[in-house]
Amino acid sequence: MIDQLTRIEQEAREALAAAGDAESLEGWRVAYLGRKGRLTALLRSLTELPLEERRAAGGAANRLKNDLEAALAVRREELEGRRLVAIETGRLDVTLPGRAKSVGRLHPVTQTLRDVLAAFVSMGFSVVEGPEVESDYYNFEALRITKDHPARDTMDTLYVDITHDGEYDVVMRTHTSPNQVRVMEKTQPPIRVVVPGRCYRNEATDPTHEWMQTQVEVLAVDEGIGMADLKGTLFQFAKRIFGQDRKVRFRCDYFPFVEPGAEMAIDCSICKGAGCRTCGGEGWIEILGAGMVHPEILANMGYDAQRYTGFAAGMGIERICMLRYGIEDIRLFYADDLRFLKQF
Ligand code: PHE
Repeated sequence: MIDQLTRIEQEAREALAAAGDAESLEGWRVAYLGRKGRLTALLRSLTELPLEERRAAGGAANRLKNDLEAALAVRREELEGRRLVAIETGRLDVTLPGRAKSVGRLHPVTQTLRDVLAAFVSMGFSVVEGPEVESDYYNFEALRITKDHPARDTMDTLYVDITHDGEYDVVMRTHTSPNQVRVMEKTQPPIRVVVPGRCYRNEATDPTHEWMQTQVEVLAVDEGIGMADLKGTLFQFAKRIFGQDRKVRFRCDYFPFVEPGAEMAIDCSICKGAGCRTCGGEGWIEILGAGMVHPEILANMGYDAQRYTGFAAGMGIERICMLRYGIEDIRLFYADDLRFLKQF
């Protein structure tokens, strides 16, 4: 496949250099880049390749397509002599300094975070933030995770070396959920917020675990909010981030601050649910925890828990980023930047 691409590139470049007028340029465009052109035919035939090969060859073929399009534009300009005429007639000031091209792009995690927030903002949520160094109270107690609660073990907490009555009561927040309480304390329903931020846990690091992760917390409190709103909102979000044809699965899960609690999974976009390495043979990939805000917490906030209900969800952005891009996409991402830098 790569051989074929090299051959097409060589021939195309020779033919382009030989094209001497607008008509032959158009002929060249049709022959290589047109709907029935050679490169297009090759791109179509990619669907017959196995996935891994298709990714690599697809990237290379698309790059060639861009290169040839650029070469065509340059040649066209050359032939029309537009630049010369412009300079001669003074329409183009060649003494103007060039415009610097920006190099690089957002980190894939940053990009994913922004896209996730944008998905919720488009549904009427606002973005707020809270502290990374958090009190034991907001991180645990107010969320019904008491000192002896086993849920503390699932979040290997990094304590800040400040004690109060002999107890460590300042932590690096282990999740963004303390902001549920912080927001509810300060505001009255209706509430629709998303809270992004870094969270910290004392993890044994491996390729998919770090002691820092970026989370996004989702909170909606209003009259008449139910599980249907939770499911509808999160389904919409999943489709925005992972593609319109995604399916979602909700199952029971336990978090002390919601009742009922749920986990949401999407069908694996790589194997389409058949089971592969990415989804661990399951066909489904868990992407977030969620649930209805516990009525006891609503009551603690001074809300009328008969009148108001709410749902909350929390997700790790690095994980969503990995599922979204895959390592090959990320390599291609940076290959583009590298190619640009190598010109200098
Ligand atoms: N805070 C939970 C976690 O980090 C996720 C969660 C958020 C679950 C909101 C339910 C509701 O694992």
